[in-house]
Amino acid sequence: MRTSDVGSTPTRGASSSARPTVLRPRRSPVTTSSNDTGIIAIVLAAGAGTRMKSSRAKVLHEIAGRSMIEHALVAVAGAGVRTTVAVVGHDREQVSAAIAAHDPAIVQAVQEQQNGTGHAVHVALQALDAQPAATVVITYGDVPLLTSQTLAELLVDHRAAGRIVTILSAEVDDPTGYGRIVRDPDGAVTAIREHADASADERAIREINSGILVVDGEFLAHAVARLESDNSQGELYLTDIVGKAVAEGRPVGAHVLEDVWQTEGVNDRAQLSRLGRELNRRITGRWMAEGVTIVDPATTWIDSAVTLAPDVTILPGTQLLGATDVATGATIGPDTTLRNVEVGAGATVVRTHGSDAVIGAEASVGPFAYLRPGAELGEGGKIGTFVEVKNSTIGAGAKVPHLSYVGDADIGEGANIGAGTIFANYDGVHKNRSTIGRHAKTSSNNTFVAPVTVGDGAFTGAGATIREDVPPGALAVSAGAQRNIEGWVSAKRPGTPSDLAAGEAEAEPLQEAPGE
Ligand code: UD1
Ligand code: CA
Repeated sequence: MRTSDVGSTPTRGASSSARPTVLRPRRSPVTTSSNDTGIIAIVLAAGAGTRMKSSRAKVLHEIAGRSMIEHALVAVAGAGVRTTVAVVGHDREQVSAAIAAHDPAIVQAVQEQQNGTGHAVHVALQALDAQPAATVVITYGDVPLLTSQTLAELLVDHRAAGRIVTILSAEVDDPTGYGRIVRDPDGAVTAIREHADASADERAIREINSGILVVDGEFLAHAVARLESDNSQGELYLTDIVGKAVAEGRPVGAHVLEDVWQTEGVNDRAQLSRLGRELNRRITGRWMAEGVTIVDPATTWIDSAVTLAPDVTILPGTQLLGATDVATGATIGPDTTLRNVEVGAGATVVRTHGSDAVIGAEASVGPFAYLRPGAELGEGGKIGTFVEVKNSTIGAGAKVPHLSYVGDADIGEGANIGAGTIFANYDGVHKNRSTIGRHAKTSSNNTFVAPVTVGDGAFTGAGATIREDVPPGALAVSAGAQRNIEGWVSAKRPGTPSDLAAGEAEAEPLQEAPGE
């Protein structure tokens, strides 16, 4: 099973319809994998997310660039699980499609009516044709901070203690709403009591059931088939398997997790934001430990699948999203958003918005640049201030320094594009490509009417509108000599403020400079 990175990779190439994918090396995620073929995972995701007040399914809401269900699937995959079953129900079409897109190998079980967590697990086991595996891990689709490492440690503890059920528990300040871990005077777990069914004494217990647990497969199949709904919610509680195991004299226990964040679920947008901020704190902390300078982690947002090399510097107000990859020595920010952008070693990217683009080593971008899909800047090149680039290659050392639109163009290495240049790529029907040759120098305020080619080493004059190809080494000028048509404004725009101003200027004697 793959621990896949979600999000598209940068794209590039000639036509917007068929851009080849940029392939590049990825570091593998930090996971603990026991590769145990006997483990299956069940991820519960059938519940409604009413409090999100969203047309989007709750588990499809994202933090750190991944939906909550994807966080759950990545976590179980990294714990060495062989087969994963996801239980879907509410917003089934959306959720199913997202799971299949993430990993088509995941088995999906449909729970038509949400009759409780025990019923959901029963449905999951029915979806597996084979005998239940030796060990089953059960997690939720809405607990996004849970890590593979915690699941792996839970599995190790479960095995080492020889238990039949091991619950992941946590001590919380406010246990309201959670199932409580009931222990006997010796500290042995005897039951999980749901909040709604708990006595006043039991409600005082602050050790809660996270809902995540490891259970022997054979026992699970046997136990969930015998659950009853004789409780205050009229549901089949998965948690009742604990009491059953105890009644049968089989060993159960709880693995207490200090890191309570990993057990927290999301039910509303405030919790989504809170967990998103915490996950970001963890991600930025991890990259700082790996040698990345992050001047202000509180205003720096980094998605899960982003990769950064040591000695990258990130300035405040920066978002690195999707599959963005930044090589060593690059400086990003301040106030920069990059999605699926590959940044080369030593590059500088200032106050820039970019997506699906490639920035070469030692290149310079911004301030105030806009890189759209397919923008590719070569080594040591420059995309300067108020420059928009789309589906274009700018060669090594080539520069587009000021106030320009570069769309569907290939600019050769060492070329310099004058200030205020527009590549007129769209004739109203088709997008056309233009080419500027190596070491060409084009002047200010040029318009390149695509498709057009400027040869290697060619020059253009200021204000030129280039409609015809320019041979290598030629100077292209298109503006004629300046002609002043005297009195044009009073003839064609009589009575306008311009006409009045012109008339006043003509009537005034030459003014002396003040102070003279
Ligand atoms: C459950 C536990 C409780 C624990 C709490 C942690 C039970 C009976 N109770 O509470 O001990 O403290 O989680 O959050 O297990 N789901 C389905 N199908 C269903 C019902 C739920 O797929 O029929 C899924 C939900 O989408 C959710 C998860 O299971 O991801 C938990 O459901 P939820 O209703 O939030 O749990 P509680 O019953 O409140
Ligand atoms: Ca819940």
